[in-house]
Amino acid sequence: MICMPTFAQVTSAVGASAFIFIKNSLPVYLSHVNEDNRESNFFIRNKNLKRKICLDLFFCFKRWYSKSNYDTIGYYFGKTILSSHLHFITFGTNKKPVMWLNSILETIGNTPLIKLNNITKDLPCTVLAKVEYFNPGNSIKDRMAIKMLEVAEKEGKIKPGGTIIEGTSGNTGMGLALAAVVKGYKCVFSTTDKQSKEKVDILKAVGAEVIVCPTNVEPEDPQSYYSVAKRLPKEIPNSFYMNQYDNLANRDAHYETTGPEIWEQTEGKITHLVIATGTGGTITGTGKYLKEKNKNIKVWAIDVYGSLLKKYFDTGEVDTNEVHPYITEGIGEDFVPANYDMSIIDRFEQVTDKDGAIMARRISREEGIFVGYSAGTSLQGLMQLKDELKKDDLVVVIFGDHGSRYVGKIYNDQWMMERGFFDVKTFKDLISARQSKRLVTVESTQTVAEAVELMRKYDIEHIPVADGENLIGALSEGGLFQKIFSNPEIKTSTIKSVMEPAYPVVSFDTPVERLGGLITKGNGAVMAKDESGNLHIVTKYDVIQSLAK
Ligand SMILES: Cc1ncc(COP(=O)(O)O)c(C=O)c1O
Repeated sequence: MICMPTFAQVTSAVGASAFIFIKNSLPVYLSHVNEDNRESNFFIRNKNLKRKICLDLFFCFKRWYSKSNYDTIGYYFGKTILSSHLHFITFGTNKKPVMWLNSILETIGNTPLIKLNNITKDLPCTVLAKVEYFNPGNSIKDRMAIKMLEVAEKEGKIKPGGTIIEGTSGNTGMGLALAAVVKGYKCVFSTTDKQSKEKVDILKAVGAEVIVCPTNVEPEDPQSYYSVAKRLPKEIPNSFYMNQYDNLANRDAHYETTGPEIWEQTEGKITHLVIATGTGGTITGTGKYLKEKNKNIKVWAIDVYGSLLKKYFDTGEVDTNEVHPYITEGIGEDFVPANYDMSIIDRFEQVTDKDGAIMARRISREEGIFVGYSAGTSLQGLMQLKDELKKDDLVVVIFGDHGSRYVGKIYNDQWMMERGFFDVKTFKDLISARQSKRLVTVESTQTVAEAVELMRKYDIEHIPVADGENLIGALSEGGLFQKIFSNPEIKTSTIKSVMEPAYPVVSFDTPVERLGGLITKGNGAVMAKDESGNLHIVTKYDVIQSLAK
């Protein structure tokens, strides 16, 4: 039982050090409190105090100090209990670090919760993103990687100098590889050829050996990355297969860290938890902790089309007919890992590869949070369920990793286009967007001067040359300029003597991407007839404009 400090007691801390007295305990020491500087550190220091009591004190102090600054609190809130002797809680940007960490591994967890302000603005409630790329390996997987390793060490399954083996899409591997460097292990990982090259290169950069296996084989196939990971421990002495799918230390990591952080950061006000799910560790561990705190919290799992998890949740059937290749990385499964406890989950929603990719790009551009693929899937899933949300709901959605791992994929326009992830635009769409300007043509018997005058009047660079109904040639500003420059007399010549070949004619529904290929250096436009037989022109400029949008 603690005696909460009163207003007067805490006020005395401003501008100086102060003590707060707690019944049955040593005094709590507050330091570096500065009224003008919102970026001060607040230390609550007492070696006999439990973390919970420190947090209670923090809330009490926060209520007094920072009514207007409330939103920024929580950024690092609950960040660190660095040792059992010093409890500190800090918010804002700490420009003068007063302590050091013993290794990079101590930076795992306590990631920020950030309000989304644009994409979700039409939702009735507040949506907060738990941005997991702040972990040192840039993904949520650091949390369970270190936990799996610590449990394996404790149980004597791996000895110093040994080899960590895992089947990983990259993120778990990154967490394990960092832990291996710090703790002195080797790493051998199997992964699939579906994963981005960046992920594999990053694993190699931190010293891991990576074996890339084919994606489109059954899990039982000896070539699959599951089978390779299972076989390696038999071939490598003093090695241990972590098996993130069935190793329950995975979900325990989230029960012990992700769940409590979200509960504290929302002061217990969270109503919905939304997670794109793969091994099931995050959703089961985090969801279990939160439901134990408040059984009314809704846990929504987001799956990708091509995974069998949703069908298993809905029907209890492991239906391999559901399984087909998908592109989204890190989530969805073609079997049900042991980490799942489906009773924690209230509903499963599926998202397409395309919608997840487009949403990830939107998060980066509209919220300034440069996220990976599965974050797009999570938020897209939530948006698909938005009609179920009410005014007072407080939604937490997990953003699993960082966008840098996907610059050659979802952040590459060519990659998106090749997969048909950009909405296909056609010649017709470009004409409608331009609100059909009248087609200007010239006849071959008119003079060059007349053509130049028309170009100036209508502010156009390309004019088809027509002979009655037939297109027999074309004039471009660039071509004419060259000719007039070398022979000014040409202005009085007929168009017929200077014209270039006619522009290609395509069908009205030709996709814009194909138009790009038809427009060449010597031919700056293409033409097509609409349903009524009227001719229209699309120039290089029109195509560039539409692709840039
Ligand atoms: C980026 C990302 N998000 C989400 C997940 C899914 O989390 P879990 O495996 O805990 O279900 C993964 C899994 O690798 C991931 O890499």
